[in-house]
Amino acid sequence: MVITMKRKNHNGGFYWNNESYREFCVTYLLNNKISISGKHNYQFGIYSGITMRWIYEMFRYYRLPCERILAFDSFEGLPEEQKGIPRTSNHCKGAYNVKEIEQFRDDTPQQIIKKIQSTLPDNLIPIDWSIGFFDQVLTEIFLKTNPKPAFWVDLDIDLYISSIQVLDFMFKNRLIVPTTIVSFDDWGCTYEYRGGESLAWKEMCQKYAVTAREIHCYRYENEGSPDYVCHKVFIVNKIEC
Ligand SMILES: C[S@@+](CC[C@H](N)C(=O)[O-])C[C@H]1O[C@@H](n2cnc3c(N)ncnc32)[C@H](O)[C@@H]1O
Repeated sequence: MVITMKRKNHNGGFYWNNESYREFCVTYLLNNKISISGKHNYQFGIYSGITMRWIYEMFRYYRLPCERILAFDSFEGLPEEQKGIPRTSNHCKGAYNVKEIEQFRDDTPQQIIKKIQSTLPDNLIPIDWSIGFFDQVLTEIFLKTNPKPAFWVDLDIDLYISSIQVLDFMFKNRLIVPTTIVSFDDWGCTYEYRGGESLAWKEMCQKYAVTAREIHCYRYENEGSPDYVCHKVFIVNKIEC
């Protein structure tokens, strides 16, 4: 299903037209009256903050009462993919290092965060930032902050290794629970279930005996290339391990 919607953002510009799977997540929660009270939105893969802004603006636009956003990024780009796992040629170590963008070139992570926060329409939804590679920040120290379960986990992190680290930690620590929505920006970056986010999801669903339902798939051709882009969204029904 291809949804193309355009809404005005707070600056009067347009945003999230062909990225509508994220809008789908917000409206799905509302339409199905899924309680998000006491739960948080987890975003993995922030880079320059464009999708964080979209999500934030959608929460405000649809009046979804999100209590807190947890945002994770190394701000150093991608790590090395796990040996033997396929990836696309542009997903090499260091890709998406935000410092390659002129406006962030000389910034510390704190300055990057400040700049991203300044693009948001307001400061009504608190954001907790975790700076560093996922295997360094998703630790006991993070758990001591008493994180709440997720009502929505958005992964925009390109690689199998990163997705495994995130999903394993989230399932193991009961931060993904029944009714959590899990969305994948990069589902189509490799053949399905051979690498990337899709293989990580499959393996973690097997490991934790997860029953999940696919509720959205958005696929489109990459202009001028045989590749396609595919986003997927699941809702978790049951976790048995
Ligand atoms: C494609 S970019 C995300 C794009 C972003 N959502 C936007 O709005 O532009 C992928 C991001 O994931 C981060 N990332 C991927 N794997 C990571 C890991 N293992 N630890 C920390 N950050 C990671 C990279 O640093 C990068 O910023």
